[in-house]
Amino acid sequence: MTFPEQRPRRLRRTAAMRRMVAETRLCVDDLVAPLFVREGIADPAPISSLPGVVQHSRSSLRDEVAELRGMGIPAVILFGIPESRDPVGSEAWNPDGVVQVALRDLRDDLGDDMVLLADLCVDEYTDHGHCGVVADDGTVDNDATLELYQRVAVAQAEAGADVCAPSGMMDGQVAAIRSALDSSGHDQVSILAYAAKYASALYGPFRDAVDVEIADGGDRRGYQQDPPNAREALSEIRADLAEGADMVMVKPALAYLDVVARVRDEVDVPLAVYHVSGEYAMVEAAAANGWLDGDAVAMEHLLAIKRAGADFILTYLARRAAQLIGS
Ligand code: PBG
Repeated sequence: MTFPEQRPRRLRRTAAMRRMVAETRLCVDDLVAPLFVREGIADPAPISSLPGVVQHSRSSLRDEVAELRGMGIPAVILFGIPESRDPVGSEAWNPDGVVQVALRDLRDDLGDDMVLLADLCVDEYTDHGHCGVVADDGTVDNDATLELYQRVAVAQAEAGADVCAPSGMMDGQVAAIRSALDSSGHDQVSILAYAAKYASALYGPFRDAVDVEIADGGDRRGYQQDPPNAREALSEIRADLAEGADMVMVKPALAYLDVVARVRDEVDVPLAVYHVSGEYAMVEAAAANGWLDGDAVAMEHLLAIKRAGADFILTYLARRAAQLIGS
């Protein structure tokens, strides 16, 4: 007797069959929408390198988040664009700073219906565009910066953030923020560490979105991770977990799916992946030229990020993906 030959194509024959055997599913619960809110504007302002994404006004942000909630998206992460900047980014911890005001608005509007994450960094608030205090030699002073991050964490928590998400890649930032939160009565505020964040050219459009240009043609290679290194990402992740991170992130997404898979194998905490501005812009640009089907590629990218091991995805595609999933 001959054994029946394996025929994988039997399971690909119909759409229903493919749905039944799918190993990975993308759903609305997987999506976190990054949103920009700009101080002092009356109407939302488009971002040229991120078509379809805007800098929100205080009121348009409220409307947008209400709509996202109606679509079932569970969470948003806020980035602020302040009216004034200084060397230390003090607007980042001003109780009346743009993100703090937005957090209070959204908490009033939503109660606990959505998770409110706050990106925790100072680069949008410094006049030189670096993620911390610049020392005389031009490098970013790690420990002086930690003190700033502590102030930002407390301000965000006071304003109603559920999650602080430190993105500055300073050594010891998670421990510093955890202790500031705990000692100010915010022990229930959790930390999503941008643990493995690479110095990537894919953040280009984001800098337009927040109107940041790093002074003197500078870059972030002195603090963000070097793209050749994957093992180093695992040690960054372990360090952040040891310091008290509740969740960890890999960023960017598609060029780093090997890192995502390795981190997934290693940790049990929730793993976030950030599909960043440049990844979004590339698909939009090609689709606008009619070179590919933007919706199909977008969904394929998000699915691939999940397949690699992400529990949730920060993506400018959140609204569109929710619509496509729902339809
Ligand atoms: C830093 C921060 C950046 C992004 C998120 N947080 C910019 C950077 O590190 O240069 C990039 C996100 C994106 O490109 O979509 N606050």
